[in-house]
Amino acid sequence: MVTPIYIIEEERLRRNLQLIRDMAKRTGAEWILAFKAFALWKTFPIFREYINSTTASSLSEARLALEEFGAKCHTFSPAYTDYEIDEIVRCSSHLTFNSLSQYERFHERAATCSIGLRINPEYSEVGTALYNPCAPGTRFGITADKLPDTLPVDIKGFHCHCHCESGADVFERTLSHIEEKFSRWFPQLEWINFGGGHLVTRKDYDVELLVRIMDGFHQRWPHLKVIFEPGSAFAWQTGPLVSHVVDIVEDKGIRTAILDVSFTCHMPDCLEMPYYPDVRGAEHIDIEDNSQFSTLNSQFLYRLGGNSCLAGDFMGMWQFDHELQVGEEIIFEDMIHYTTVKTNTFNGISHPAIGMLRMDGTLEILREFGYEDYRNRMD
Ligand SMILES: Cc1ncc(COP(=O)(O)O)c(C=O)c1O
Repeated sequence: MVTPIYIIEEERLRRNLQLIRDMAKRTGAEWILAFKAFALWKTFPIFREYINSTTASSLSEARLALEEFGAKCHTFSPAYTDYEIDEIVRCSSHLTFNSLSQYERFHERAATCSIGLRINPEYSEVGTALYNPCAPGTRFGITADKLPDTLPVDIKGFHCHCHCESGADVFERTLSHIEEKFSRWFPQLEWINFGGGHLVTRKDYDVELLVRIMDGFHQRWPHLKVIFEPGSAFAWQTGPLVSHVVDIVEDKGIRTAILDVSFTCHMPDCLEMPYYPDVRGAEHIDIEDNSQFSTLNSQFLYRLGGNSCLAGDFMGMWQFDHELQVGEEIIFEDMIHYTTVKTNTFNGISHPAIGMLRMDGTLEILREFGYEDYRNRMD
């Protein structure tokens, strides 16, 4: 029986890691992995060849850093709880507070960490509201007007995250806002973390511009250690989700290929962003209005539907060059970041296996899922 599978490709992963290691050298910054995008810990031995640290946003991620990655992490959480803070501190080298009230409540218990504050530069070019941490009313970070002139002595760093799949030009513009609003505190700090969302491994990312930006920054602020904590950039285009056609249904002239995977369970960003994935061998056709469907050359035009009971568990439309057959593979490209960390077993739907295509071409199965995984979550 052929079941769906996420396949991470070691060669592509190493290519990204190599590029990020080069960036670390050229930008004079530390680059660390954000687990929220990727946490397949069986691949951590590979990561350890290239990077030394990670960033966590919960107790479980912090433990994963210490216990599986083998190093304390940089931690940021929107709000630490009384019952988790001590354990998080034990696993963290750096700990960033989201608000001054959280700092007041917990800073003494975080004394073994290098403490930071999350700042809100009130500037972000992220267009999708769901991913914009600087939108008015945001719950992230402290605006400049709320900071005291002199920071408490145990505050060593600022943390700022306001990018999403962004280029170096966006960082350049954002950085000028950050410096304009917050540089008067820089002399009191040891480090600044520019968050994630820097998509340095994307083909068109202007690496040279980032190097120039950072050269300038280091000249202005030579004492500040700089940290970048992307997630997506590490796992960007490192492998597909391979699924299969289970049935073809039709209504009002719209044909849907129902698959053995689900958008809501296994590719949630597709519905949340919304983000149209690349489907191997098919072209995405942008149809807003279903009435357009019949006027197009719709011979091999299909919606792709998930196998959950959620009515909206589908995406459309894709033009194939042949009639889809039950049993044939549908391959969603670039399905490694923000998938396996977010997937769920809604409806009890089987979770795809996770495999790794090794450099020598062998496919190693890292994990398969079954009834127990569904049952035991509610044990
Ligand atoms: C605080 C923080 N750091 C890092 C990241 C990683 O961002 P990305 O995966 O887009 O690089 C995120 C993503 O939401 C984040 O919220």
